[in-house]
Amino acid sequence: MQFFINEAIQILKQGGLVAMPTETVYGLGADAKNPVALEKIFHAKQRPMDHPLIVHLADVSQLGEWVSHVSPMAQKLADAFWPGPLTLILPKAVQVLDIVTGGQKTVGVRVPRHPVAQALLRGFDGGVAAPSANRFGRISPTTAEAVREELGDAVDLILEGGECEVGLESTIVDVSGEGVRILRPGMITAEQIEGVLGIRLQEGMEKVPRVSGSMESHYAPVTRMRLMGVEELMACLGALSSEELPVAVMVRTMQGGERDGVVCVKMADDAGGYAHDLYQTLRGLDQRGFKKILVEDVPRDGEWAAVRDRLVKASFGG
Ligand code: TXA
Ligand code: MG
Repeated sequence: MQFFINEAIQILKQGGLVAMPTETVYGLGADAKNPVALEKIFHAKQRPMDHPLIVHLADVSQLGEWVSHVSPMAQKLADAFWPGPLTLILPKAVQVLDIVTGGQKTVGVRVPRHPVAQALLRGFDGGVAAPSANRFGRISPTTAEAVREELGDAVDLILEGGECEVGLESTIVDVSGEGVRILRPGMITAEQIEGVLGIRLQEGMEKVPRVSGSMESHYAPVTRMRLMGVEELMACLGALSSEELPVAVMVRTMQGGERDGVVCVKMADDAGGYAHDLYQTLRGLDQRGFKKILVEDVPRDGEWAAVRDRLVKASFGG
């Protein structure tokens, strides 16, 4: 592995692209100070140029190079959750490139804990800008194989790091101003953040267009998806005509429902297990030619917020 890490470091230094595993999802990394390298990310992903990138660092001690100010609340969150699946939006340092921030005055920063990401970032000794390593609008990859499917030759090296432990993108928290706002829910929950800060977060998540993950159609599989309660799901399965088959059903608690042309996939009944498997399951189902993917709804409580957010977005328009 060290051999590949060294090669990856060289590629980053020469302005190339490296896909790296993190504990959330795989990222498509480039030297965050090299504008030519950064442009390649947008081409590879076919991502609009005004969408900002997250800068990944090995250690919180490097933060000063990227941000102009760390509020006491931001510091508390960094202390509590880094390295880990949390991205902080902070006021940017003057030298941070517009292509990283999408021209905004803030920058997203994260210290991932995956050992391969850690080794790469330590060896590179600089910031690595990395969005999720998928084409724009598609499901984030949680294995090296999925990165290959998404980006193929557009990336110079894919570092193998196994299945991502968390499986969903990081929680994004805006601590650039006075308050604290969750811009994208993740497996670090609002309750955990409130616990660390000792405050209650404002209700309701603002729709900030600059966070591409907050666009309704984001994270979508190709196959149309619908999210339904158990009763509605059972009724729907009973009413399907032969032209509407085959369908896949992602069940959590529901029993029964099997019939010809209906394939049930049992998902975990805990949020962590469900999150871990979600993208991999959708990716697999997407390749099997189902007319639709029906999904048993998940609880509306805090632990499930990130999973439900991704399910709602994936089923937009379905
Ligand atoms: O778990 C993750 O966060 C993964 C891994 C690779 O770290 N990365 C990821 O990156 O999900 P991406 O680019 O797919 O999503 C990051 C989101 C984008 O929607 C982007 O708009 C938002 O973070 N973002 C980045 N910088 C921002 C900023 N300064 N202000 C507001 N949103 C920002
Ligand atoms: Mg993404």
